[in-house]
Amino acid sequence: MITFENVTKKYPDGTVAVDDLTLEVPEGTLTVFVGPSGCGKTTSMRMINRMIEPTSGTLTVDGSDVTKVDPVKLRLGIGYVIQSAGLMPHLRIVDNVATVPVLQGQSRRSARKSAIGVMERVGLDPKLADRYPAQLSGGQQQRVGVARALAADPPILLMDEPFSAVDPVVREDLQTEILRLQSELRKTIVFVTHDIDEAVKLGDKVAVFGRGGALLQYADPAFVLSNPADERVSEFVGADRGYRGLQFFHATGLPLHEIRHVADGEVDGLNLASGEWALVIKAEKPYAWINAEGVELHRKGSALYDSTVGGGSFFHPDDTLRQALDAALSSPSGLGVAVDDAGRLIGGVRADDVLEALKEQRRIPELG
Ligand SMILES: Nc1ncnc2c1ncn2[C@@H]1O[C@H](COP(=O)(O)OP(=O)(O)O)[C@@H](O)[C@H]1O
Ligand SMILES: [Mg+2]
Repeated sequence: MITFENVTKKYPDGTVAVDDLTLEVPEGTLTVFVGPSGCGKTTSMRMINRMIEPTSGTLTVDGSDVTKVDPVKLRLGIGYVIQSAGLMPHLRIVDNVATVPVLQGQSRRSARKSAIGVMERVGLDPKLADRYPAQLSGGQQQRVGVARALAADPPILLMDEPFSAVDPVVREDLQTEILRLQSELRKTIVFVTHDIDEAVKLGDKVAVFGRGGALLQYADPAFVLSNPADERVSEFVGADRGYRGLQFFHATGLPLHEIRHVADGEVDGLNLASGEWALVIKAEKPYAWINAEGVELHRKGSALYDSTVGGGSFFHPDDTLRQALDAALSSPSGLGVAVDDAGRLIGGVRADDVLEALKEQRRIPELG
């Protein structure tokens, strides 16, 4: 566990890079420090491995005050990955990966052997072992950077914008790889990024930093998106992300409303007022929406069927609030079509109920 207790860092020129930071990074979790450039993320991270000394406050790693631990020893137990991968250009990949184990006294031979294993672990072809960094793509170099940080099997991993310099497709691969690795390794990871999407995708918890090195919010990602602590956080996570947050909430207990419906063979007898909609059921399944105009068309041998009914916008009771809202918003009647496992109509969901349910669930107290 890593704890910051009222940690402040003031640079000699008077810049307050980190302002009274109090935060706990639980063991075995991936915590993301996110925020715009210059808000003190890197400074906070580098105080963990004592590359930067705090001006005041206490920072502990597994209970020990870092300023009282030999910095070389401390750093050997903390893997560190940076944006440019930071590989040594004159060393072959295998020797880059083996750097720390060799520093720790392992024989070069055994360190190289295990380096190959770590390379495979992060998705690198062992055939690349004898190349030099410049002979690898940006994405491959970042994987080498991760492999090198993992080679000595440190319990803690610090990653400072490790994927920011690679293109978006490769970045997504690397993010997925980190999640897969972490599900096996359960390291204590601090991951710095300025990208809120990356933070939400990777973080068990997300710490949002703002100007002047202030911690604005520290919570799980769903909570940050759905319930930003203040204007600064909501501006940073983006106004449109209120809806995005819906995917993190289950729609359990969402009220189902009655939907007027009619069997396909009985559309002719239907009397619909202007603006009223009915759901046509065919072979026991919702088939199409129809209105008064549609009934007319039906009489003439054609029908005004709304294609969205068959287009996958059904709602199932174990779906998320986002799917409920999608169903409601894509229905011409304003009632999203809810179906059971067999695809039979069980009722309708309304957008205002979804927003009400969201409000309810937002009242869940913030986790530590
Ligand atoms: N060595 C330094 N001397 C003076 N100011 C610095 C130094 N390093 C960083 N800063 C300043 O501290 C603030 C936080 O920087 P940093 O921790 O790098 O932020 P981030 O990683 O969030 O972009 C910035 O205003 C930056 O200009
Ligand atoms: Mg930085």
